[in-house]
Amino acid sequence: MYSVRKVTDDLYWVGANDHRLHLFENIHPIPRGVSYNAYLLLDEKTALFDTVDWSVCRQLLENMEYLLGDRPLDYLVINHMEPDHGASIEEILLRWPEVKVISTEKAFLFMRQFGFHIDGHELIEVKEGDTFSFGKHNVAFVAAPMVHWPEAMVTFDTTSGALFSADAFGSFGALDGKLFADEVNFDRDWIDDARRYLTNIVGKYGPHIQLLLKKAGGILDQIKYICPLHGPVWRKDLGYFIDKYDKWSRYEPEEKGVLIAYASMYGNTEAAAQALAARLCEKGVTNVWVYDVSNTHVSYLVSESFRLSHIVLASVTYNLGIYPVMHDYLMHLKGLNLQHRTFAIIENGSWAPKSGDLMQKFVDEELKNMTVLNERLSLASALHPDKAAELESLADAIVESMA
Ligand code: FEO
Repeated sequence: MYSVRKVTDDLYWVGANDHRLHLFENIHPIPRGVSYNAYLLLDEKTALFDTVDWSVCRQLLENMEYLLGDRPLDYLVINHMEPDHGASIEEILLRWPEVKVISTEKAFLFMRQFGFHIDGHELIEVKEGDTFSFGKHNVAFVAAPMVHWPEAMVTFDTTSGALFSADAFGSFGALDGKLFADEVNFDRDWIDDARRYLTNIVGKYGPHIQLLLKKAGGILDQIKYICPLHGPVWRKDLGYFIDKYDKWSRYEPEEKGVLIAYASMYGNTEAAAQALAARLCEKGVTNVWVYDVSNTHVSYLVSESFRLSHIVLASVTYNLGIYPVMHDYLMHLKGLNLQHRTFAIIENGSWAPKSGDLMQKFVDEELKNMTVLNERLSLASALHPDKAAELESLADAIVESMA
């Protein structure tokens, strides 16, 4: 049975939702599922914008067959080739062998690399600034390299104002009947998953997102719809989401607040993290979030690190090093290029506390544009009252640095 939503008079969402996949890219948990968005334009010519993951190909086909009826599919526009969108390309070519495929040179290369039999079909290679007409609708193609793969482009429909934005402006979370961001309480129910999606999937490529935002800035008044490949379509209050993307891609925090990430084996480092959280709240800083790195998936830690201005690393010493799960979290921050945060350190070690120096070295040498506060809380096994002054001065230093 088809399941489609109307975006405009002649543009339809023909994607599908997936609640079965547990790990997006086989790494990031998606407890609320994910949507794979594809869009069908019924102009004088018909055009499908992107396809879907192989797991939901059947739904895409039912949606298309319902809307096309006896009409052929004339064009397939591929903005992004990654298999969560591109995996059904070959099936489309098999069903509609006369379809003309519009994409970038690199995307065609990737299609061949993935083993799609595209040669023998009409391929229309486009690049930045090229335009095309489907009848009433004229579109312009805009290169979007590294948002999120090098072949990516976005397509702007200059007639309707629809921006097919590929991975940009996407979100984790299945749509479950809703389509537009104004049909959900985005700021309450979606923003955390949108941030977790962007920061973990495309976070490394902030400068490339900035380039795309700059291009979009020139036509901002003409953009009426943002149609991403995951999550809700935007038709109202576009500035809200564009502003979030701007902050995330500049690596600027959204909020003044403190993330306390602790690695604790027997609860003593955890107790110190909790004691610091309580002192901060006593002092009026209540935007404090405490996470156990051992039972919080790193994608959530990354997302919170992008949201908040301050990060406290509290770690036991393990094999004379940083606790491995804490180290993994730090490696993710490095890989995703996070910058412009203030760090504070709590270390613990029963006979040779090393984790403090090692975490400081990691932040200083492996991350960019970070500040580490001089004050440090150093524990020998557990936090005792004789450390109250150290704890107080660490809390004071954090509060002062937030002023
Ligand atoms: Fe949703 Fe980069 O693919």
